[in-house]
Formats: sequence, structure tokens, C-alpha cells
Amino acid sequence: MYYTTDKHHGLKHNPFNALIVPRPIGWISTIAANGDVNLAPFSFFNAVAYTPPMVMFACNGPHAEGGIKDSLHNIRETGEFVVNIVSYDQRHAMNATSAPAARNVDEFGLAGLEALPSNTVSPPRVAGSPAHLECVLEQIVSLPCTAEDSSNNMVIGRVTAIHIDDAVIRDGRVDISLMRPLSRLGYMDYAVVDDSFELQRPEGG
Ligand SMILES: Cc1cc2nc3c(=O)[nH]c(=O)nc-3n(C[C@H](O)[C@H](O)[C@H](O)COP(=O)(O)O)c2cc1C
Repeated sequence: MYYTTDKHHGLKHNPFNALIVPRPIGWISTIAANGDVNLAPFSFFNAVAYTPPMVMFACNGPHAEGGIKDSLHNIRETGEFVVNIVSYDQRHAMNATSAPAARNVDEFGLAGLEALPSNTVSPPRVAGSPAHLECVLEQIVSLPCTAEDSSNNMVIGRVTAIHIDDAVIRDGRVDISLMRPLSRLGYMDYAVVDDSFELQRPEGG
């Protein structure tokens, strides 16, 4: 099949994000200026640089109560966030935190999650996550949006500190079979990454 994106794809479900897979999930914790804590998953998420280490996630669409989503709102206010890596075991809790909760609802409580303090930023970390990236806001890129009463915003953060559960480190490497990160596919599908193979790059690659 072939289609141009100004026309309908003709399928029952939009195939776009079923093609860009697997997507890692950034489980983003933030805090508002008034101290309200928020937690939500984002699969438009990735690393974008090593030096300094930077990550991005895209906060798209409106909050259920109108306006922008809490995660973006809080980051605009306080300029900090934490990326919590989601393990397969945390899949149900992660899903629960995506509920369109009212603005002042703390999704840690909603999903029965324990919050751990961070070291370099104010938002707390999710206990039980195999890794956490503490981040300060670098830039918010406002992207075009063709949906009504909506917006697309890419948040770029500089990673200031990293926590890794010692239990997922074997022989000095993060062992994917121990970390078992959850990843997002298209539709309502997910995958768990717990297997890998090695491929050496060509000389100079
Ligand atoms: C696995 C998963 C991935 C998601 N990825 C995104 C995403 O990349 N961007 C986005 O705007 N919403 C995404 N969502 C939806 C948000 O998590 C949801 O809108 C959430 O309520 C936003 O919370 P907030 O208003 O507390 O920030 C995703 C949901 C799930 C379950």
C-alpha cells in the first residue's frame, strides 16, 4: 500500500506508529511550582546526544481538562524532570499512570508506586524502576499541530545524574535480560526487550 499523509490511509487503524517500533518508554516524573507531583508515560521518547547526554520526549495533544498535559505544564514551571525506565514487571502501574487524571492528582498514589527522592532535581523517582535519568530542561520545541485545540511539543532535557539498579549490571554492563525494558509497538501492543545479539561496526563506523 501507499498513501500520502494529507489523505486517509484507508485502514481500520492508523499504521504510523506501528512502523516506528519498538519505541522505548520514558516514564516522566515532574513537579509543579506548588509541589504537585505528576507521573506519565511517553513513547515518543529517545536519547538525542552523548556529550552532554540529552533525551527528548514529545508531549502531544490536550489534557482531558483542556490546555496542555500536566507533564509539560510542570516542566515549563520548574524546568526539571526524571525519566524512569519501565521494566516489564511495572507494565500495569505504567499503564495506570496514563489515565486522564485531574490536574492535581499524583499518579504515584494512583498506581500505588513508592516515590524515591532524586539527587540533582526535585521530581521524585519511581521505586522499582531499573534506571532513572535526572534531567534539567534544555529546550522545548513547539512543533506544528494540525489537530484543533491541541499542540505538539518536544521537550529536550540534559541528563544530570543517572541511577542504575546494581541488580541489572552483570560483568560491568547493563544486562538487557535482567533489565527487561518495556517497549511500545503500534495499536495496543507492547514488547519486552530481553534478548539481543552483537554486530560490530565497520572500521571507523
Ligand atoms: C505507553 C504509553 C505511551 C504514551 N506516549 C505518549 C507520548 O509519546 N506523547 C503523549 O503526549 N502522550 C503519550 N501517552 C499518553 C499520556 O501518557 C497521557 O496523555 C497522560 O495522561 C499524560 O499525563 P499528564 O497530563 O499527567 O502529563 C502515552 C500513554 C501510554 C500508555
